[in-house]
Amino acid sequence: MHPVHFFMGVMSSDMGIDLGTVNTLICMPGRGIVLFEPSVVAVRPGTNEVLLDGTAVGKTAKAMLEKAPSTISVTRPLQDGVVADFDLTEAMLRYFIRKVHKRRWGVRPRVIVAIPAGITAVEKRAVVNSLERSGARDVYLLSEPKAAAIGCGLPISEPTAHMIVDIGGGTTEVAVISLGDIFTQVSLRVAGDDMDEAIIKYLRAQCNLEIGHRTAENIKIGIGSAYPTNGEVTGEVRGRDLVAGLPRSVTISSEEMREALKEPLDRITEAVKTVLEQTTPELASDLLEHGMVMTGGGALLRGFDKLLQEETGIPVRVADEPLSAVARGTGMLLENLDLYREVLRDENSEE
Ligand SMILES: Nc1ncnc2c1ncn2[C@@H]1O[C@H](COP(=O)(O)OP(=O)(O)OP(=O)(O)O)[C@@H](O)[C@H]1O
Ligand SMILES: [Mg+2]
Repeated sequence: MHPVHFFMGVMSSDMGIDLGTVNTLICMPGRGIVLFEPSVVAVRPGTNEVLLDGTAVGKTAKAMLEKAPSTISVTRPLQDGVVADFDLTEAMLRYFIRKVHKRRWGVRPRVIVAIPAGITAVEKRAVVNSLERSGARDVYLLSEPKAAAIGCGLPISEPTAHMIVDIGGGTTEVAVISLGDIFTQVSLRVAGDDMDEAIIKYLRAQCNLEIGHRTAENIKIGIGSAYPTNGEVTGEVRGRDLVAGLPRSVTISSEEMREALKEPLDRITEAVKTVLEQTTPELASDLLEHGMVMTGGGALLRGFDKLLQEETGIPVRVADEPLSAVARGTGMLLENLDLYREVLRDENSEE
């Protein structure tokens, strides 16, 4: 990593990246979100050889999965917010970076990348190395909660506490930020993927029905619920009967979804409470006034804001476009380097 004597001015190729477990987004100064793709790569089964000369990545990879299910397998190079497969992460990033540079070769952008606040130095190094090997020139790290806060327009450099709850696919990050720095935080490897997993388990145990991950995610988005609302819904779920082995469908309700999702939601709620318990009385009073802001795809789960509000007694708001808050934050930092110079310096000082 580099000391921060760099940014003399932003250049047109600079980019902010949210390298997420489920989605990767790229935001460029003056251009906004230029890429929003699933973090997946299609490989030849049993290898980590990317199909189509290394271009079966993101949406292309997902589309292939539907057409040729047995001859390809689609993998995620990141797990729980960190790099799980180094080569595939590099291949994926190389493809995405080229794509936004309109396939101009030889462009070596400077990159600000958002990473979970709780990761180790080794895990950070893996992100930096993947980016450098995929064509980035200088790489600067920004922790996800700070990026999310900036992306939501919170004035994080002021001496007032702000709280972010970012619920992604692999990790949940809860942080209280004041004076540009994280005052206290908890990173939890429980998020959207675990909700899908909980739905699969529930249907298996309660209905003898086996479903896949994609179906589970669709159910979560369609009828998933964290708190009773007036618009209780039901939905039909199709899967395979565990006993007869044949296709079958069942109808389930939001209420059953709350039961299914109880464990991951409880764990996320506990993490939020832990962070609140660690704040000083002064900061707690700021939080009572300003509330907390939810970002990441998990923030869209129906009634999750109400659940957290009831459990903590603190006002909760879901960010506008929560899925892109982190990426917008990295882009806004690039656009306002003078304002955020200290924020970046704190995170990238030599360790
Ligand atoms: N409407 C919705 N209701 C509930 N969950 C949703 C909704 N829309 C998206 N999600 C979930 O949000 C998750 C993806 O969110 P996001 O893109 O913020 O994750 P990520 O940044 O890739 O992951 P991480 O930050 O953990 O590395 C997925 O689990 C997805 O199922
Ligand atoms: Mg994320």
